[in-house]
Amino acid sequence: MNLENSIQTPVFRLIGEEADRLGLECYVIGGWVRDLLLHRPSKDIDIVVVGSGISLAEAVAKRLGKGAHLAVFKTYGTAQVKKGETELEFVGARRESYRSESRNPIVETGTLEEDQNRRDFTINALALCLNKNRYGELLDPFGGIADLEDCTIRTPLDPDITFSDDPLRMMRGIRFASQLGFCLAPETFMAIKRNCERINIITKERIADELNKIMLSRRPSVGWKLLDSTGLLPLVFPELAELKGVETKDGRGHKDVFLHTLQVLDNVASKSDYLWLRWAALLHDIGKPKSKQWEPGAGWTFRNHNYLGARMIPRIFKKMKLPQNEKMDYVIKLVDLHMRPINLIEDTVTDSAVRRLLFEAGDDIDDLMLLCNADITSKNEDKVRRYHQNYELVKQKMVELEEKDRIRNFQPPVRGEEIMQLLSLEPCSLVGELKSAIKDAILDGVIPNEYEPAKAYLMQLAKERGLI
Ligand code: CTP
Repeated sequence: MNLENSIQTPVFRLIGEEADRLGLECYVIGGWVRDLLLHRPSKDIDIVVVGSGISLAEAVAKRLGKGAHLAVFKTYGTAQVKKGETELEFVGARRESYRSESRNPIVETGTLEEDQNRRDFTINALALCLNKNRYGELLDPFGGIADLEDCTIRTPLDPDITFSDDPLRMMRGIRFASQLGFCLAPETFMAIKRNCERINIITKERIADELNKIMLSRRPSVGWKLLDSTGLLPLVFPELAELKGVETKDGRGHKDVFLHTLQVLDNVASKSDYLWLRWAALLHDIGKPKSKQWEPGAGWTFRNHNYLGARMIPRIFKKMKLPQNEKMDYVIKLVDLHMRPINLIEDTVTDSAVRRLLFEAGDDIDDLMLLCNADITSKNEDKVRRYHQNYELVKQKMVELEEKDRIRNFQPPVRGEEIMQLLSLEPCSLVGELKSAIKDAILDGVIPNEYEPAKAYLMQLAKERGLI
């Protein structure tokens, strides 16, 4: 196959010319070729050189001239050239194997084919020649094109060897299946099952990278289900594996929280690309196993699971090397609040309860409502429609109250400084109490969210407490 017409990018011609001048064979390889054939956007360009990747990189950087930046990594035999948006990675073709308990490879110079077969999957081992007389020639010794057509993830070598060389590839295989909507070849799947324990030698950071990519795929449930069926799930995320299964008592079961969670996650993913909203969906019921109880009369209950789940998140994020910052706080908040809107759908719901939710959710209220809508996974269509309609009513009420009271980004109309000045107080806990009392009066609708009424309310409180 020749793909000359698909690679008219000038930089490829230039690399080919420089390689010819140096008498080196060179190829664009890996993810870039795969994505070209799948018509997906791809940024990083990997160039493999039979010989020294560094010499070609140096020559290319020189030709690209002003604005080109060269970085050489001698120990690894690699080099990077950057210019504007273009990022090129150069490496010499190598054969490589890893000692069984270490990630440090023994690297030796190799042929193109040796370089291709040490790669993770056939679809990532495709190479396109850039030398002038073979420009665009596709080298596919392992049937990568056939696997792209069949939507199959398969290792070029015996999968036990490929995965033992780098166990992260088990996660990568599942991630590609999830991202591309592909299936794992049966022997690849079985090898992950056999080798899953080896994931323990991989750093949590690299695992988190793959999990985030699974989370950002169109249907993240595909990845999580494969993690489960291959045996990786309890090793990379034990708390999620805990959600699996159904217990029955007196003929009454509860839903399988794992499957429900994945459906909620896919529902959210169909509406939002925001990674942390997707994590909130994955974690929204994480507290259920801890709170599960059988209560005679009531059946299975999961009281306070939102609160217990929210409390588990800092430890989970820390252990999994997910960010310990405002993104985590956002996930905690959504998990904590995810049961609140459902309690607001009765007729008798008070304005005060809606204001309090607006106050607590702040600008994340729309994401919270999206999560709550996604959480309705009943098979009873009537019930689903009723819930969605009720949520619409809650949303309307929120809009009305927000217009009137502007609670979403609440700032106290009378500040602490002013309270101290008006009542001649030194800084003390009483100032905080008075501030909270004003906030509560606004949220409860006793006074409007305005300066004068808030000040009058403060003075009345002060009088009642004998402060003035
Ligand atoms: N590769 C590999 N084993 C790994 C990582 C990478 O064999 N554990 C090879 C694959 O041939 C891959 C190439 O190195 O195509 C580049 O790796 P990388 O940039 O991480 O992945 P891409 O395939 O480009 O995909 P993505 O950018 O989506 O991660």
